[in-house]
Formats: sequence, structure tokens, C-alpha cells
Amino acid sequence: MKENKIKKVSIFGAGYVGCALAGTISNKYEVDLYDIDIERINLLKANISPIKDELFQKTLKSNKKNIFPKINRKITLKDCDLCILCLPTNYQDHKKGFDTSILEKEIKRIKNLNNKIPILIKSTVPVGFTDLQNKKFQSSNILFSPEFLREGMALEDNLNPSRIIIGGSKKHRKNLIKFLCSLSKNNPPLIEMESSEAELVKLFSNSYLAMRVAFFNELDSFSFEKGLEMKRIIEGISSDPRIGNYYNNPSFGFGGYCLPKDLKQLSSQLNSDSSYLIKSIDKSNQARFEFISKKIIDLKPSSVGIYRLQMKSASDNFKEAAVIEILKKILKTKIKVYIYEPLIKDKSYMDIEIKNNYEDFIKSCDIVIANRTDDKLKKSDVKIFTRDIFGEN
Ligand SMILES: NC(=O)c1ccc[n+]([C@@H]2O[C@H](COP(=O)([O-])OP(=O)(O)OC[C@H]3O[C@@H](n4cnc5c(N)ncnc54)[C@H](O)[C@@H]3O)[C@@H](O)[C@H]2O)c1
Repeated sequence: MKENKIKKVSIFGAGYVGCALAGTISNKYEVDLYDIDIERINLLKANISPIKDELFQKTLKSNKKNIFPKINRKITLKDCDLCILCLPTNYQDHKKGFDTSILEKEIKRIKNLNNKIPILIKSTVPVGFTDLQNKKFQSSNILFSPEFLREGMALEDNLNPSRIIIGGSKKHRKNLIKFLCSLSKNNPPLIEMESSEAELVKLFSNSYLAMRVAFFNELDSFSFEKGLEMKRIIEGISSDPRIGNYYNNPSFGFGGYCLPKDLKQLSSQLNSDSSYLIKSIDKSNQARFEFISKKIIDLKPSSVGIYRLQMKSASDNFKEAAVIEILKKILKTKIKVYIYEPLIKDKSYMDIEIKNNYEDFIKSCDIVIANRTDDKLKKSDVKIFTRDIFGEN
């Protein structure tokens, strides 16, 4: 498969990763975007983005001649030169690992239909997964390339990646490199490696990010307890170029779809005799949830308002959002709780009343708690509890 021979790419999974890739690839190639969720496919057919991403919404319209939403796998794979898998890999506590069954089933189906189509896995997988799949099908054309996008900025990050990492057999890597490099706007570094190494890069990268959040949060808990000024302290620490003045804004804890599950997956694969640091990151995060909720409860409010449930201001995802962990702890007390979340159209969430009339919400609460603040909240006449020091994600 040479670059000029790629005419059509099939993407499996029209979620954050799949849509971002479809947006990027459709600038130059035809893309079939396949999903089992008929509602998502119908939205895409109507040129409506199923993910919250302004740039993808625009691209969906401008590139509509190159994006073909599909619900039929067989048709999707017809004349396909490359199949990219962006399917869920949720962590299962009872298995102490990712549930890779969706990926495995789809790989088997693709292989049964056409063994020659190269498969590029973009889902995050356990270390060794790609190798195992190649062994299972006596092939070498299954590759892994980690995805590093941020929700809400998915397409932007995909067009301007910090690096392109491609893991798999030398022969098939070579064939894919030109294609992958032709997609980005910013000419990022390209790093080639074995698939297991690339899988490790993804899990360790996200675990580092989780560790960094936990680090600044532990610092914040300590300073908060002592009544010290966090902003000055962080600036003092982060001015060391080895530490860096970024990704250092305290929060209620890390959360979202990827960091907690990738950290757990890596922890479960690490040898317990030689790894202590990574295995303790989750404990630090749990302690942070405990600390934040205790501080809120100690203020003895009769009512608390939760301002937004998303993990990040730009995202529409509530998966494992830190504020929900705080909410669960407050619910164990007698404090009345309300939620302001315009992304929820229902009247309640987890049996808690949604008050999407903002003025009514503010008037109903003694304190409003917010993992991330914004100008609207800051201007409101209400007591705010947040640890958002720098007003960024
Ligand atoms: N969200 C992120 O920021 C991010 C970043 C990097 C990597 N990842 C990884 O990428 C993978 C996908 O993540 P996501 O955020 O895009 O998930 P998502 O939940 O947003 O999307 C997954 C999509 O797959 C579809 N799907 C499920 N089973 C299917 C099947 N058998 N065939 C076709 N479609 C099917 C679902 O309907 C859904 O639309 C995960 O492994 C995740 O860890 C996610």
C-alpha cells in the first residue's frame, strides 16, 4: 500500500477519536465512518457532529464529499485500503484490565472479510495486544498508533499532533508512514517502534499526566490546609524550566474517559515489586476527592450547587468527571444538592434536581462548587468553592 494508492479509509467508531480522524483524513482522502449506533450515523448523515467539537462540525460540512457515514460493515470494507479502529476499551474492575472484546470481534470480522486490509489500531490497548492479534491471525498487518487528542479539541489536536508514533512490523510501518505524515499540518516528529513499545508510550504518557495532576493537587491540599497562597507557590515551582509553567492548575482531581482507565490498565500490568510510584497515583486522587468534599462539607452549607458536570470546559463528556466523585460524597450528607448543566435536558441526574434556569440555580444555593470556573459564574452573587487558580483546563 503506497501513499498514492490510498483512496479510501474505513474508520470503525464515530466517537471522539473516530470523528477527529475522519475530519483530518477527509481533507485528502475518502473516509467511510462506520458505527453501530444508528443515531450517530443519522446525525452524521445530516452533517451534525455527534461530538462536541466546533472544528469537526465545520469540517463535516466542508468535507462532506469525502465523509461517508455507514452502518453496514461489509459495505464499509469494500474497496477499503486501510481500516482504522477507534473503538471503546473500557476498564473492567473485575478483570483488572481493559475490555478489548469489541476490538477483538471487529478484527476477526475484518480478517474474515479481507485478510489483506491493513488494520491500524487507534484505541488504547493493553501492552502486547497488537502482537497477540497478529499472532492469532498469522499476520503482520495489524499496527498500533497511539492517539493523544484532548476532548473538545479533538480535530485541532489531530491536525497538529505533538508527535506521530507508529508501532508494528517494519514492512507495514513503512507503508503507513507517508500516509500518516501527509495528514498533519505541523510536520511533527515521527517515531517508529514495535507495537508493544507504542502501546507502552500511550499508557505511560497518560499515567504521567495523571501523576502531574495529582502532584499539583497534593501541593494544593497542603497549601490550602496551611492557608498559603497557591498561585505564588505554583509560579515559584513552575518557573524551573525542568518543571515548566503548564498543566499545573489544581482541580478536584483527575478524571474523564482516559486518564483513570489508562492508569489502572498500566498499574495492573506493572510488576508490584518494582513499581510503587504509578500504583500510588490513583490513591492520591482518591485522597484528593476525600479532601475536597470534606472542605465543602465543613463549610456547613444547607444547599450546594454543582456548576457543570463535564470534566473539562470544552468537553460534553461526564465520564468519571472529578466533580461527580465530590457530588457522590456530598450526597451522603443531609446537604441539599442542585445541578446546573445545560448539556442535560432531563429534569434530574442521579436523582438530583437539574436547575438550568441560571438565576434560580444561583438563588437556591448557599455555595456553588465548580471544578472549573468561568466569567458567568465569577460575576454571580454567590459564594464559590473552586480550586481553579489559573482559569484554565
Ligand atoms: N476520548 C479521548 O480523548 C481519547 C484519546 C485518545 C485515545 N482514546 C481511546 O480511543 C478509543 C475510543 O475512544 P473514544 O473517546 O473515541 O470513544 P467513544 O465512546 O467516544 O466512541 C466509541 C464509538 O465506537 C462505537 N462502537 C462501539 N462498538 C462498535 C462496533 N462494534 N463497531 C463500530 N462502532 C462501535 C460507539 O458507538 C461509539 O460511537 C478508546 O480506546 C480510548 O481509550 C480516546
